[in-house]
Amino acid sequence: MNDPLDSIVAQALAQFAVLEEPAQLEQAKARFLGKSGAITDLLKGLRDLPADEKRVAGASINLAKERIEQGLSERREAIAQARLDARLQEEALDVTLPGRRRGAGGIHPVIRTWQRVESIFRSIGFDVADGPEIESDWTNFTALNNPENHPARSMQDTFYVDAKDASGLPLLLRTHTSPMQVRHARTHTPPVKVIAPGRTYRVDSDATHSPMFHQVEGLWLDEQVSFADLKGVYTEFLHRFFETDALRVRFRPSFFPFTEPSAEIDMMFDSGPLKGRWLEISGAGQVHPAVIRNFGFDPERVIGFAFGSGLERLTMLRYGIGDLRLFFEGDLRFLSQFG
Ligand code: DAH
Repeated sequence: MNDPLDSIVAQALAQFAVLEEPAQLEQAKARFLGKSGAITDLLKGLRDLPADEKRVAGASINLAKERIEQGLSERREAIAQARLDARLQEEALDVTLPGRRRGAGGIHPVIRTWQRVESIFRSIGFDVADGPEIESDWTNFTALNNPENHPARSMQDTFYVDAKDASGLPLLLRTHTSPMQVRHARTHTPPVKVIAPGRTYRVDSDATHSPMFHQVEGLWLDEQVSFADLKGVYTEFLHRFFETDALRVRFRPSFFPFTEPSAEIDMMFDSGPLKGRWLEISGAGQVHPAVIRNFGFDPERVIGFAFGSGLERLTMLRYGIGDLRLFFEGDLRFLSQFG
């Protein structure tokens, strides 16, 4: 064997071995087998040798050339194989992974509150009533003793509908669930003991108000239903709703046209993050005699209480939520916490 030939072959194979790109491999090939490559130069040199030496030397140069070509094609294949492997790896499918499912839905936190409120009041003997979200001016305001010039009736507070009812009265999106008192009482006879949860609408929008929100109305009428019953029922409700007796309830004098006396119900937690702060939770009162008359009853014989509470408010206090708009943005990062 010819030493310089062996070392040319070894050099070529060593160079090929570290190359990863087919184009670089072709350049390396040219250095040995190209027009002015090392092997080509040697072949050219054969010209000057005597005939018998030429044959021997030629044979070993050709052998070296074949080894280089062989190395080259092995390297080409290795590169191609490595590329294929990399691609297969990249595009690999893990058939053992579980399939993608359609996400399971959940119940909206406000609707959860709605359901809780229904089940608590049902368990203390209240019926649950449902009614229209488009109301007449009479049921929403007049029957509830709201004076003609009351500010709640103005366009700033109320969404009016571009239509009138059968008797020509304006129609509007109900601004509270209180008209359900009128609807229910006028179609039932005392004792009337009912709650009416539902959607309500006002022109109002900030961190604690939304143009659409939810209320629950309560009404208990009989011959002897007093303010003390209101206190008892509502306090029991709060204990059950917040699942704790460690809260205080206070009835603060207030005004609503449809109740007399009227109160704001405030509550205060004895522990937890909201501890020690009075929080407004509901309007309430003894139903006004004029309203009892609009129900079709005799205020000398039928008395009772009513209340109206915000379901968003109850939900915010139960879960410690600071911004009411979160309920209506549909952001799953928020909603999925209530699954
Ligand atoms: N309807 C009132 C409101 O939306 C809340 C309310 C207050 C309802 C007193 C009542 C009540 O039944 O007695 O602000």
